[in-house]
Amino acid sequence: MTGLILRVIAAEPVADRIRWLRLARPDGAELPAFTAGAHVEVTLPDGQTRPYSLIDFDATSAAPDTYHLGVLLETESRGGSMHMHALSLGDTVTLAAPKTDFPLHDGPEPALLIAGGIGVTPMISMATALKAQGRPYRLVYAGRSAASMAFADRLAAQHGAALTLHHDDAAGGPLDLRALIGSAAPGTQVYVCGPRPMIEAAREIATAAGLPVHFESFDAVTPQEGDTAFEVEVASTGAVFTIPPGRTIVEVLEEAGMDLMHDCLRGDCGICQTEVLAGVPDHRDVVLTDAERAEGKLIHICVSRAKSPRLTLDL
Ligand code: FES
Repeated sequence: MTGLILRVIAAEPVADRIRWLRLARPDGAELPAFTAGAHVEVTLPDGQTRPYSLIDFDATSAAPDTYHLGVLLETESRGGSMHMHALSLGDTVTLAAPKTDFPLHDGPEPALLIAGGIGVTPMISMATALKAQGRPYRLVYAGRSAASMAFADRLAAQHGAALTLHHDDAAGGPLDLRALIGSAAPGTQVYVCGPRPMIEAAREIATAAGLPVHFESFDAVTPQEGDTAFEVEVASTGAVFTIPPGRTIVEVLEEAGMDLMHDCLRGDCGICQTEVLAGVPDHRDVVLTDAERAEGKLIHICVSRAKSPRLTLDL
């Protein structure tokens, strides 16, 4: 993976707690191309990384000279969004080349893009690509209030009747996903990016309606009140580890030298899925269906915990 060192060439607030950052090479040269739904992993000063979706407003993702990011200042920030909000013009940002885990489908089917809050960032690139390709799409962008929603005016100008804005405060409640997805044409490909409850609800409704659904969460899974320590037994070796509150199975096992498969570390890519041989998982992912959760045979070890004192995992 190629590392890039870019400079902040513009930074401005575009909604409550949302900052629009534009990054470019110091010499202004072309940046690696990306496709709709791509993100970059930004390296923080402490060496940790955070993913940010790349925004393409004007179909220049094939030969960009600037990367556009929209960064929400998280109330429970683990440091990433605070760092991104503190950057000044001329500061450098280190990031990996773009990667697309949330791609658009190839076929002629219509796309229904549902964005919640800062989840709009990958959806902007998707809407741009679909419009540029002359493919059918609809973008539905929901937020708590007009003031909380970045880029709404620009999107309205670019997407006209293909865009629907929903303000919870003005509408008296959240977006009616059941009505929205229920009115989608057969075969519509549904894309969702937003808070976890929105993803879970949209996923359930779309699946029940027989529509393909693709999703990506942007929020980190944060510890919940009442989280307690539990043990994990690694079936292949019999080794037992204690997972304290605030730490994940992946973190503890990797610290002990285990080599584990993972990617998003947010419970939405499914790569870290592991078989549960004994014990009761406490699911925090958005990958498993309700039936799979109830069955309790699978766990996503980057986020999920245990309801029983010990889990035995097929590792
Ligand atoms: S690493 Fe993506 S779900 Fe766990």
